[in-house]
Amino acid sequence: MRRVIFNQKGGVGKSTIVCNLAAINASENLRTLVIDLDPQGNSSQYLLGKQASDLKPNVADFFETALSFSFRPTPVSTFIHPTPFENLDVMPSHPDLDTLHGKLESRYKIYKLRDALNELDEYDAIYIDTPPALNFYTRSALIAVERCLIPFDCDDFSRRALYTLLDNVKEIQQDHNAGLEVEGIVINQFQPRASLPLQLVEELISEGLPVLESRLSTSVKIRESHQYAKPMIHFDPRHKLAHEFVALHRELIGAGAAG
Ligand SMILES: Nc1ncnc2c1ncn2[C@@H]1O[C@H](COP(=O)(O)OP(=O)(O)OP(=O)(O)O)[C@@H](O)[C@H]1O
Ligand SMILES: [Mg+2]
Repeated sequence: MRRVIFNQKGGVGKSTIVCNLAAINASENLRTLVIDLDPQGNSSQYLLGKQASDLKPNVADFFETALSFSFRPTPVSTFIHPTPFENLDVMPSHPDLDTLHGKLESRYKIYKLRDALNELDEYDAIYIDTPPALNFYTRSALIAVERCLIPFDCDDFSRRALYTLLDNVKEIQQDHNAGLEVEGIVINQFQPRASLPLQLVEELISEGLPVLESRLSTSVKIRESHQYAKPMIHFDPRHKLAHEFVALHRELIGAGAAG
C-alpha cells in the first residue's frame, strides 16, 4: 500500500504522523519505506537524526535523473537508505528540491515518481511526506499512491481549506489517478476537554467528511521524540500518544490492505 500524508496547511502534523505510522508498520515485520518530498527534510531528520542532512544520493538526486536522458536509468533503490530501525528505510530529502522544482514542472516530469515506485516491489508499505503546498511534489505523490491521509488540527481557519483540499484530490483522481482514495481525516492535537474542537469535529462529521475515529492528543513528548530522532513506539511505547498512533495504524489497516 502506498499512501501520502497531505495537507497544504503547514504544521498540522504531516511529518510526525508519517514517521510514527511508518515506524509502527515496520515494527510489525513489514518492509516499510518513507519518502520525504519536503525540502525542509523534517521526516528525514526524525528518522535519521543529524546524519540526514546532506545524505547522498537523496530524493533531489532521484528527481535530477528525470532531467537527463540515460540509456541505463539508475534504479530507484539507489536513493534509498536504511534507518536505525529494523525494516524501515528512507529516501531522504534535500534542500535542492526547491531549486529543481521549476525545471521538473516545466518539463512535465509529474509521472516520474509513480513510474519509479511501480518498479519498486520490495516494500509492503510506502509512506510519503509532502511539503505544505499543492505543488509539483505533492501532485507527483498524489499521482503515485492509492491512499491519501489528511491531518487536521482543529483550527477553524483551516476548515474551509479542507474542502479545497478534497476538491484538489478529486481533480487529481479524475485526471490522473483513478485508484486514488482519501482514506480519512485524522484529527491531530485533539483536546477532548475543550468544547470548540469537539464541536468542530462534530460539524465535520455531520457535513459528511470522512473523519477517522482515532484521535491524536497533544503532548510535549512528541518534541522530545523528534529531538532524539526516535518515533514514539521506540521512544516511549507506553505513552498515550504511542497507543494512539498504534490505534490509528490499526484503523487504517482495517480499512484497507496490509501496511
Ligand atoms: N500531537 C502533537 N502534540 C504536540 N505537538 C505536536 C503534535 N503533532 C505535531 N506537533 C508539533 O507541531 C509541529 C508541526 O508538526 P509537523 O512538523 O509534524 O507538522 P507538518 O504538517 O509536517 O509541518 P510542515 O507543514 O511544516 O511540514 C511540530 O513542532 C510538532 O512537534
Ligand atoms: Mg512536515
